[in-house]
Amino acid sequence: MNTKVIRISQDSTKLTREEEAGLRQAAGILKRGGLVAFPTETVYGLGGDALNPESARKIYAAKGRPSDNPLIIHISRFEDIRNIVKTLPETAVKAAEAFWPGPLTMILDKSAIVPPETTGGLDTVAVRFPSHPVARQLIAYSGGYIAAPSANLSGKPSPTSARYVQEDMAGRIEMIVDGGDVGIGLESTILDLTEEAPRILRPGYITREMLENVLGEVTVDAATIEPDNGQTPKAPGMKYRHYAPAGRLVIVEGQPARVVPYINACAAADRKSGEKTGVIGTAEVLEQYRADVVKCIGSRKDEEEIARNLFSILREFDDEKVTSIYSESFPAQGLGQAIMNRLLKAAGHRVVRLQE
Ligand code: TXA
Ligand code: MG
Repeated sequence: MNTKVIRISQDSTKLTREEEAGLRQAAGILKRGGLVAFPTETVYGLGGDALNPESARKIYAAKGRPSDNPLIIHISRFEDIRNIVKTLPETAVKAAEAFWPGPLTMILDKSAIVPPETTGGLDTVAVRFPSHPVARQLIAYSGGYIAAPSANLSGKPSPTSARYVQEDMAGRIEMIVDGGDVGIGLESTILDLTEEAPRILRPGYITREMLENVLGEVTVDAATIEPDNGQTPKAPGMKYRHYAPAGRLVIVEGQPARVVPYINACAAADRKSGEKTGVIGTAEVLEQYRADVVKCIGSRKDEEEIARNLFSILREFDDEKVTSIYSESFPAQGLGQAIMNRLLKAAGHRVVRLQE
């Protein structure tokens, strides 16, 4: 399959005639049951018609993803949620008023029109109303309901630019809509509203604190931070190995004055035994690292920058064939919850904690 790439300029809220024609073509592909990757404010999505079981099957095949891992349905108008859920609880309406369009996914009981192929056989459905203008336009043109996982091969970091989508999906899907780099860089917050109390199944840009301001008490699924507590996570995707770079990643936690020399010593030893070494460091101490490849994830003063850079850095280490990677650790508060959730998964929960 030849994968066509079309480019849509990100900041133009008004599309050129050519861009408009491109998006219409993309929508046509989706309506006929084909697959199109597109930008959202979080990461790139791999879209198919959410109400067509055949499209869901194609998505699983293109990603190499187990078909019991359900897909998120993307909508472009709040009202459209009513067709795909059985009931719309007051909490969902409140959360939508506060955070939609935006990086929040809600889990609700599904209606009969949603095929089990899309939900991995579950009776619930994940719904998201993205804020990215290109995503919204494409969803609207294609009939209102696009199922889209992140547009990476299963197990790889989610793509934050069209280049990475191309790396993983060229030849597997019909079109890639290139809308430039994404803004957030980590996938949406997943909020389960099917039980008595709202519960976060995957942390993201919309933090627990932000949700609690609107909904009252919100709990966090233990599977988001702990390696394996014997319980099955409610979001099936959280049980799979994810975001993993090809190299071995270790997180080092502690005071910078201890972390930097520790990482340098480990990198030097690994290098002696033939490894190509890499470091994920923050701007404040970056110059002090000694390794084959040292990457700046951003400043400790700017969590959003750290979130935005994480996945692309993991991919760059793969491109540069780094085999042993050390990363600084981050406080798991606010957006740091999402950052550490992804980083811990990428590291297979290998963490070294240095004493004071
Ligand atoms: O930001 C995002 O959410 C991106 C963009 C493209 O919108 N999408 C995304 O999709 O991250 P995906 O498929 O890579 O991750 C969806 C997660 C998986 O962990 C899946 O198991 C969970 O959502 N999920 C989907 N439907 C669910 C359901 N009914 N109940 C529980 N978890 C569900
Ligand atoms: Mg994903």
